[in-house]
Amino acid sequence: MVSRVIAIDGPAASGKSSVASRVADYFGIPYISTGSMYRAIAYVASGEGVDCGNASAELLKPVLSKLQMSYVATANGMQLCVNGKFPTSELRSEKVAALTSVIAAIPEVRIWLSVKQRELAGAGWIVMEGRDIGSEIFPDAAMKFYLTASPWVRAKRRMAQKGETVSGATLEEVAEAISARDRQDSQRKVSPLKIADGATVIDSSDFELDETVGVFIKLISRHRCEYRVPYADTDQMGVVYYANYLEYFERGRTEMLRSVGFSYRDMEKMGVFMPVAEATCHYYAPARYDDLLTIHSWIISARGARMVIGSEIYCGDKLLVKGSVTLGCIDGSRKLVRLPENLIKACSIYLEREEK
Ligand code: CDP
Ligand code: CDP
Repeated sequence: MVSRVIAIDGPAASGKSSVASRVADYFGIPYISTGSMYRAIAYVASGEGVDCGNASAELLKPVLSKLQMSYVATANGMQLCVNGKFPTSELRSEKVAALTSVIAAIPEVRIWLSVKQRELAGAGWIVMEGRDIGSEIFPDAAMKFYLTASPWVRAKRRMAQKGETVSGATLEEVAEAISARDRQDSQRKVSPLKIADGATVIDSSDFELDETVGVFIKLISRHRCEYRVPYADTDQMGVVYYANYLEYFERGRTEMLRSVGFSYRDMEKMGVFMPVAEATCHYYAPARYDDLLTIHSWIISARGARMVIGSEIYCGDKLLVKGSVTLGCIDGSRKLVRLPENLIKACSIYLEREEK
């Protein structure tokens, strides 16, 4: 099973919420900050007398049993609704942040929220950011990232955000509060902050926000897979046979579909077949025996019965081959039929977008 989730985990002030909301905006899909869900519990609990010194499962259980939490789609995206209200700045104070980390280590709190978080996915693609999204909540997420930055850079970013730090706090104090939270988050027994299996690590210490967002968009919108050229693919000169490039395109295509939970066999079971109707291939430089190739695949268009898939093959940074393949969708009696709706929806993340 593949969950159509773009999971972004990482430590405090690494840029998760800022990046996640802009990436979601670019792809036109919803975005959820799971940290806000933890903050909301801390905020409500603190109103009921829970603090960093006394927080326990016993005190939290009655809070959770009457807590109403949901996400509501609004003109400004998905808004967190807690007991009928839409809290925002209340969740961002340093006091709430400190209590959040403490209550987030309580298993009952995590279980309660994990059910809600899993319910939020399923309808289509979604961006979700937090600490354990790729590792615990969606180990089967289609795309996983771990966004980080040096503690010093993160402290500076927090200082620049109004209302997030105690007024008059020095950079050293903010750095210490962030480190304390990092320690608490990565050393707890349940769902500690860690790099999920298969996650791409991005260090944004030296990047402006726009640059980081650009890196994410680039990585998400194209499928990439690697292939090391075997001897069997080459001629006497050690150069890859021309015809193999089309096979490499096919390899990329198959992997791209698999990454969103589809296989040609699944489609055959649905009664549709997608043979190649047309292919183009521009050849710039040869691939050779033992080269490690990266095959990029994306969808140029998906309309009616036709899907056009773009491919580029790189060796390191060098573009070797570029092309496209048009697939026609047919049924068992070789009649053209519309591309399955669920296939288009699943692949939508790879659909080429107009430059904004
Ligand atoms: O914005 P910042 O990164 O500082 O924090 P946040 O994402 O709003 O999360 C606040 C706290 O919630 C974190 O320090 C964690 O203790 C907890 N959290 C968690 O345990 N698991 C998540 N998936 C998200 C947040
Ligand atoms: O959600 P998280 O706590 O990981 O971070 P955030 O609240 O999204 O980002 C912290 C601040 O760093 C925001 O004001 C961002 O604009 C800023 N920032 C960034 O996120 N990424 C950069 N490469 C540079 C700055």
